[in-house]
Formats: sequence, C-alpha cells, structure tokens
Amino acid sequence: MNQEISFIQREALKEKPATDSLGFGKYFTDYMLVMDYHSENGWYNPRITPYEALTLEPSAMVFHYGQAIFEGMKAYRTADGTAQLFRPEKNMKRLNDTCDRMCIPQIDEDFLLSAIKQLIFTEKDWIPQGEGTSLYIRPFIIATEAYLGVRPAKEYKLFVILSPSGAYYGSQLNPVKIYVEEQYVRAVIGGVGHVKNAGNYAASLKAQEKADRLGYAQILWLDAKENKYVEEVGSMNIFFKINGEVVTPKLTGSILPGVTRDSVIQLLKHWNIPVREERISIEEVFAAHERGELEEVFGAGTAAVISPVGELTWNDKTIVINDNQIGHLSQDIYDEMTGIQLGKKEDPFNWTVKVAQVEV
Ligand code: COI
Repeated sequence: MNQEISFIQREALKEKPATDSLGFGKYFTDYMLVMDYHSENGWYNPRITPYEALTLEPSAMVFHYGQAIFEGMKAYRTADGTAQLFRPEKNMKRLNDTCDRMCIPQIDEDFLLSAIKQLIFTEKDWIPQGEGTSLYIRPFIIATEAYLGVRPAKEYKLFVILSPSGAYYGSQLNPVKIYVEEQYVRAVIGGVGHVKNAGNYAASLKAQEKADRLGYAQILWLDAKENKYVEEVGSMNIFFKINGEVVTPKLTGSILPGVTRDSVIQLLKHWNIPVREERISIEEVFAAHERGELEEVFGAGTAAVISPVGELTWNDKTIVINDNQIGHLSQDIYDEMTGIQLGKKEDPFNWTVKVAQVEV
C-alpha cells in the first residue's frame, strides 16, 4: 500500500502547555492522522488533519457492539536533536493482532508506521523536553458503520492522536501501592485480554474504582479460572525479583504481550540476570516475602515505563517490598531503558528508530 497522505492545515496553532503541568494524556497536539475503511475500498484517504471533535452517527456500531481498539507508543526528543520512536514495529504488529481478534480489517504495518512518522515530523515541536517526558502516541480504530445488526462493521476510521505527557503515576519512580483483586477478573483464556481491546479497560474500571477508594494506585489481576496465578497490573506487566532471579507471568493467552515487558526480558538476558516467564501464584509471591526472598517487584509498560511496587495487599494482608524503596534492579532497568529511548545510551538491540530532526 502506497497512498499519498494529504495535509489539511489548521488556521491557528495551539499554545503548548508548560512541561511541569503535563501529567498524562491531558493535552493534544494540533494535528492527527485519520484514515477511512470501507469494505469496498479497503483502507483509504490517509490524511493529517487538525485535531478536532468528530461527527458520528448515533447508530455507529462502535457505540453498540464495541469494536474499538488502540495502541500506545511514544516519541522521544534526544539530546542530539532527533525525535525517535522505540520499537514501533512491535506496536504495528500488535495493532494488527488486535484487529484480527476483533474482526477489524488489518492495515499495512509499514504504511501506517511511515504515516505516523510523518505525523510526528509535523508535530515535532510538541515533543516535550524534560525528565520523564515524551510525546505519547495513541493510534486507535473504531467501527463507524451506521447499523444495528450484530456483525463486524463494514466501515471504520483509524486515528492517531498525540499527547505530550509526563509520568503516568504522577511521580515516575516512586513505589506504588497495588491491590490484588479477588472479586473481579480481567480476562479469560480464549477471550480478548491478550489484545488492546478498549473494552478490556472498561471492564477493569469497577475494580480500579475500588482500589482508588482503598488508596491503591492499581490492581494486580489474578487468573480468571482459579483466582490464583498472577496475570498483570491495570496498565502494565509485572515482574518479581525473588532470590536473585526475575520471574514474570508467561503469556498464557489472557495477558497483554507488552513491548516494555519484552524489552525488560531482553535486557535482563543481556545482563546475564536469570529471568523466567512462568506461571507464578500470588501465594508463592507472599511466601517468598515471608522467607525474606522477595527483593523487588516492578511493573513495566509504555505509559508507566518502570514502576516499582512498594506495597501489595492480598486477602487483607499487606506486604511491604524493599522497604518501600526503589530497588537497584528497577532503577537500573529504568535508567537503561530511558537512556536508550532518549539516545543517551548505546542501543545494542537496535530498538530506536529516528524520525525527524528537532530543535534542541
Ligand atoms: C500504554 O502503556 O501505552 C497503555 O496502553 C496503557 C494505557 C491504558 C495507559
């Protein structure tokens, strides 16, 4: 697929927010990428157009049967004046895996990535500069056909919007408190938990609300069948360092295959730190703590990067991990990962992809 991307200029550009007020996902840039799909045309009419409100029919199928999917990635401003992406081909592939599961027509990955690069180039001045900041990239697809029968839609729209952002949890590396959820479940094997289906996040809100009420930052989900094995946290994958070895839940079909998760595993292997992907029960985690062997727990995700866990509560029992301090390994991984993303460290894995020259 090699289509011309048209450009529709806006009349006036927005004022950019101050770096220290960014937070996560609150501000949106001047432009977005839009593309249409019709079963008779395939994906067509890619365009970079002003970021603005949409007009959709109330009967658009997304509102009724939930064909809505998304991705999350980031563009970074490096010290030597380039904008770069981190393993974007993994997000393109996962977007198509999600399309496949949700009966949404797949898109040419190379074309979409080149269109995203063009959008980033247009919006390069929006990439924030400052510790822990980046331009968050949110591709998403919705079903737009006006029809109320239950079947895959024949019309869709793809959007890519951009949001200059800081830390997801307010303070980047401060350990967070996590609540192990037993009443609600996130995903079942054979379901849609392994893809970025918007409904997964809607289904998580009830438990997240409970966690918020109890003063926790996030939920740790257990498997839906036995309520026993650790799956993932609300917006990230999870890692446990037990007696010098790192364990992360293996991808059983209900866990999201995170790009950061995969990068952490590769980094640990590169450093010769033992790392295993396997089922781990919450009982084992608490038992390891009891034995004094639970050294660190941290989450990993695009939005959150690396987020140390300082407290875990399960069944009315709370454990404090590493004295509620940032662990050495969490810190090392964070430094290495962000160092590569910001072009401050060597990238032996060829993870970064340069997009544009920016002002420094
Ligand atoms: C990301 O890490 O990019 C995600 O998609 C998580 C999001 C729900 C904030």
